[in-house]
Amino acid sequence: MEHRLWGGRFAAPTAETMRRFNDSFAFDVRLAEADISGSLAWAEALKEAGLISVAEHERLAQGLELVRREFADGRFVPAEGDEDIHTAVERRLSELVGEPALKLHTGRSRNDQVATAFRLFAIQAAQQVRHGLRGLQLALLAQAEQHVATLMPGYTHLQRAQPITFGHWCLAYLEMFERDRQRIDDATTRTRTLPLGAGALAGNSLGIERERLTEALDEFDAVAGNSLDAVADRDFVAELLFAFALSGVHLSRLAEDLILYSSAEFGFVELDDAYSTGSSLMPQKKNPDSMELLRGKSGRLVGNLVALLTMLKGLPLTYNKDMQEDKQPFFDSVDTLELGLQVAAGAVATLAVRPERMAAALDDAMLATDLADELVRRGVPFREAHGKVGRLVRRALELRVALRDLPLAEYQAIQPDLDAAIYSVFDFARSVARKDSLGGTAPIRVSEQCARWRELIDA
Ligand code: ARG
Repeated sequence: MEHRLWGGRFAAPTAETMRRFNDSFAFDVRLAEADISGSLAWAEALKEAGLISVAEHERLAQGLELVRREFADGRFVPAEGDEDIHTAVERRLSELVGEPALKLHTGRSRNDQVATAFRLFAIQAAQQVRHGLRGLQLALLAQAEQHVATLMPGYTHLQRAQPITFGHWCLAYLEMFERDRQRIDDATTRTRTLPLGAGALAGNSLGIERERLTEALDEFDAVAGNSLDAVADRDFVAELLFAFALSGVHLSRLAEDLILYSSAEFGFVELDDAYSTGSSLMPQKKNPDSMELLRGKSGRLVGNLVALLTMLKGLPLTYNKDMQEDKQPFFDSVDTLELGLQVAAGAVATLAVRPERMAAALDDAMLATDLADELVRRGVPFREAHGKVGRLVRRALELRVALRDLPLAEYQAIQPDLDAAIYSVFDFARSVARKDSLGGTAPIRVSEQCARWRELIDA
């Protein structure tokens, strides 16, 4: 039996290579659930427009539910000629209910059908990724709450810069993942526009009321205002892939920090065995593979975005078969990110933090800015204070001593009115406590931020 939805005009069969090249069922089978939801709404609309009878609608709806269950239970058996999920569902439906199935495609094209199903899938996938981001945020927050006052070096240029707290470091990532969540929400808003009813490209002439379709499909809140754009638009894929790629980039930065921090040279943290692997040759090795994979897989997330944009670039209106290539990058990014977020959350939640190693990595030079601030409080212009403290740092390097071990005479050489009280600057906890401006690393501020995040996340 001929299952091709378009075979009538053709005298010769499709070449075997072409069939394999053209078929998308192997991957777009993931749209089964979404495709059937779209078809149920469409069947309803056909009934309301008087294009099918109530009885025919009933059989279609029952048949579609049966097909849905076959997919859900893994019982669906694809047939030769099921070139894509839309063909497969319609073919199976006609086996189950006969005649009425031949009417389901009335006024509809696979162009508005696939755009609808893909949007439905994307909306749901975005929710799952969002949930994954939340999980990671919770893990980071729990660590932050434990370590609001745990001192560690903060870095710029990967050089020791100023003391910070580990809690503050955790919350920095929480902020990034919050923006990622917002970006996904924002992109999802525009995904909720319904293409169904646009037909192949020009609209439908059968009196289908498109507004009513959004009532049957909860995920949508508006109908696309232009039928050409409705079937040609893949902005929602690009926007979500960008949001996913940026999350991947954030994950890669988190991963890189933790790879460095878990090295013997830093020793600030230790990844749990559950998120590490060993070496087949070197018995002593414990490698941060979870973090390396997060760092590495971020490349795939960026690549998928670039693949989609490159595919879309220069496409004439409206639908072109190129666009069938929109799905695999999306599926891959969703799968990669969802699992990656779970791994990241688990690794952060089980991270062993080593405050003593963090403290041991603090050195007096990281308080040079505090020294300069001290001079500023005595009325020295900052630029001048910067130069004076710079000379002190150089002196300490020449004498091979820590700044706190420089004799008072050296301090008085750069600023005659200094006395022994200046040495009170050499207190890392004090330095951190003083960074109490909004968003600063002072434990009091970090605690406040933790409380704010708790409230936000529990809401
Ligand atoms: N499998 C196709 C896709 O994903 C469905 C649309 C086919 N439409 C067409 N006019 N050939 O894009």
